[in-house]
Amino acid sequence: MSKRLGATVGLLVLVFAHEAPRAVGEEPRPIGTAERRAEKAMDVLQQRLQARLLAALEEKGPAGAVKVCREEAPDLARAVAGEAGIQLGRTSHKLRNPANAPRDWVVPYLERAAGQPASAVSKVVVDLGDRVGVLRPIATAGTCLVCHGAPESFDPGLRATLAELYPGDRATGFREGEFRGFFWAEIPKSE
Ligand code: HEC
Repeated sequence: MSKRLGATVGLLVLVFAHEAPRAVGEEPRPIGTAERRAEKAMDVLQQRLQARLLAALEEKGPAGAVKVCREEAPDLARAVAGEAGIQLGRTSHKLRNPANAPRDWVVPYLERAAGQPASAVSKVVVDLGDRVGVLRPIATAGTCLVCHGAPESFDPGLRATLAELYPGDRATGFREGEFRGFFWAEIPKSE
C-alpha cells in the first residue's frame, strides 16, 4: 500500500458513539446530526471568509487584505459558531497566528496531513465523549499563494506587514493544491 493511501485510510477513521437506547420516533443521534450541523457552519464560514478576502484583495491589495484577515477572520468564526451553537475555527500544521493553534485531538490528524495534496486528506468525524469533533481539509488555491506561497514572490509591502503583525509566521511556502489546514468544529451531543 502506498504511503499516501495509508495516510488516507488513517484519516478515514470514524469513531461512532455507543448511543443510549432511543425511544421510538426519536431522531437517530448524535453523530449524524452533529456532523450535519458542523458541515453547514463550515460552509457558511468558508463562504464568508472567501467573500471578504476577495473584496479586501481587490480594494486594498495584499498588505491591506492581511489587516482585514487579522481583524475580521476571528470575529467571523466566532459569529458563525455562535449562530450554530458550536465551537468552530481554522487551524494548521504551519500557523500564521498562534491563536489558531490546534486542539489536542486535532494534532495527530494535522501531523498525518502535513505536506500532502489536499485531495489525499479525508474529512474526519470523531467521538469526543460529550462532543463530536469534525475536521474538513482546506486546500491551498491559487489566490492563497499571494499570502501563503513562496515569500520571495511577495511584494515588499506585504512582506513588511506580515513581519510586523506575525513575527513567528510559518504559513508560507505552500504550493497550489497542497493541504493548508483544517476547518475544525466541536458539537455538543446534547442540546
Ligand atoms: C491577503 C493575504 C491572505 C490571503 C490571500 C490568504 N490568507 Fe490565509 N491568512 C492570512 C492571514 C493574515 C491569516 C491570519 C489571520 C488571523 O490572524 O487569524 C491567515 C490565516 C489562515 C489560516 C488559519 C491558520 C493560520 O495559519 O493562522 C488558514 C487555514 C488560511 N489562512 C487559509 C487560507 C486559504 C485556504 C487561502 C486561499 C483561499 C488564504 N488563506 C488566503 C492572509 C491571507
